[in-house]
Amino acid sequence: MADPRKIIVTHQATPLSGVITVPGDKSISHRAVLLAALAEGKSIIRNWLPAGDTLATLEVVRALGVPVEIQKRSAHSWELRIEGRGLRGLRRPNAPLDCRNAGTAIRLLAGVMAGQSFPSVLDGSEQLRKRPMGRVTEPLRLMGADIKSEGGFAPLSLRPAALHGIEYTMPVPSAQVKSAILLAGLYTNHVVRVHQPGPARDHTERLLVAMGTIINTQDGWVTLGEAPLGGRRLLPLDMTVPGDFSSAAFPLVAATIVPHSRITIRQVGVNATRTGLLEILRAMGANVTIANQQVTGGELIADLSVEFNELHPTDVGGPTVVRAIDEFPIWAVAATQAAGAGTVRDAAELRVKEVDRIAVLAGELRRLGGQMDEHADGFTVHGPQQLRGAGVDSHDDHRLGMALAVAGLAAEGTTLVHDAACMADSFPGFVETMRQLGAAIEWVDAG
Ligand code: S3P
Repeated sequence: MADPRKIIVTHQATPLSGVITVPGDKSISHRAVLLAALAEGKSIIRNWLPAGDTLATLEVVRALGVPVEIQKRSAHSWELRIEGRGLRGLRRPNAPLDCRNAGTAIRLLAGVMAGQSFPSVLDGSEQLRKRPMGRVTEPLRLMGADIKSEGGFAPLSLRPAALHGIEYTMPVPSAQVKSAILLAGLYTNHVVRVHQPGPARDHTERLLVAMGTIINTQDGWVTLGEAPLGGRRLLPLDMTVPGDFSSAAFPLVAATIVPHSRITIRQVGVNATRTGLLEILRAMGANVTIANQQVTGGELIADLSVEFNELHPTDVGGPTVVRAIDEFPIWAVAATQAAGAGTVRDAAELRVKEVDRIAVLAGELRRLGGQMDEHADGFTVHGPQQLRGAGVDSHDDHRLGMALAVAGLAAEGTTLVHDAACMADSFPGFVETMRQLGAAIEWVDAG
């Protein structure tokens, strides 16, 4: 059943302004808690993201017998202290491991659980059970893993098996698949090589390197070398998670489409495998500046400032797509306000995210009086479009819900975004953060 929480958005007549931060990066938060569980010793992870998706990974780690101490630094920033059990120290769970809506959780965990000496079952929500798992089960099976799935979908049943090395070319560039293979690779002494047809996010590689593992990246190949004498071991982490660029994308686009806005988002992760949207927005004429760059925990962070500017459309395709894959719902909203037609190609992946993000977004934008032409591997938006406030639905997809809320700022009148609690799957405090900038967005009481 859809959740009853909704938000109301009113046409934004005044500029957005102010300085904000966004919660910690979701991809890094999943990986940090999982890898810290496999390390030898106590890890400290600051600014960890307590979102629906990452909490699923945290609960799974606890169900595997790993003690995690939580200090809530603020509602959306936790500090975790994790007693790593070592690669072979996890405990057999006594129930299926629930990954909720989190594709990253189930796919990364598939790699880890394939290497265990006990059986396990990975499962999740009805939504997660509809997402393709063959992309991870296939290479893991080639590594020797014993995995059963329901016709390529969760639940996944894993049994102990001896894993071996692999040289694997991913048909689509996917950080989740790459990560699953590398994590399973921790359970073999052999060389593991993954070829990515495009630059998928590299947070797993960076964390593994920070934990003392040697990883080489060259010509699209990511290589985990043979195990050192004495076997593979992971050192504990002491790190701060950067702000999530994919969350920052929502206020960033909001400020590019609400006239006279000027905002700054501090300490956002700007790892180049994530920031395709910045290049796309700049090519559209957006006025974005990057300041105070520094490296923390092997990741580049910076302050992003953006000022409203007239946008003109651009076409997007090729290797930029994977570096902006989560940002196309909000990009589509920006494109409705640009003067001309903009097209995304090479993005068929959007059809297998939390929902089919092309079809569902096209339907919801239509309710706002907008239009998006669907292609098998992308879409075209003809701007500028005068959106009109209406009732829309997130379809339990956090990024669609937030994109529709930002569209509501540009629409005439008021927009109601139904099924809105899912926004906290990646960006808890989205409404409050937007309100700090003066956005006319608020929660409506349930019911
Ligand atoms: C993620 C990888 C991407 C992305 C997802 C998070 C990750 O998915 O869309 O939101 O943390 O590894 P794919 O690996 O399927 O492209």
